[in-house]
Amino acid sequence: MKTVTIEICMGSACYLLGAQELIETIQALPEERQAQIDLRGSTCLKACGQGPNITVDGELFHNVTPELLLRIISEKLD
Ligand code: FES
Repeated sequence: MKTVTIEICMGSACYLLGAQELIETIQALPEERQAQIDLRGSTCLKACGQGPNITVDGELFHNVTPELLLRIISEKLD
C-alpha cells in the first residue's frame, strides 16, 4: 500500500490563511484513503507569508488550497 506523509502548518499565519480547511479536506476523505496518509502538524514551516504551507514527503508547498491538496494526494497515491 502506498503511503504519504503530509505535514500541515498549524502556526497562526497559516491558520489564518486556511490551514484548518486543509485538515478538514483530509478528514473528509474515505477512511481507506486516510489510512494511507501519515498526517502531522507543524508549528511553523518558516514561510508564513506564503501560507497555508504543507510538506509532502518532505517537499514544501505554498499557498495550498483544498483542490491542490487533493491533486497532490492523488498524484502520490494513485
Ligand atoms: S505559520 Fe505556517 S509557515 Fe509560519
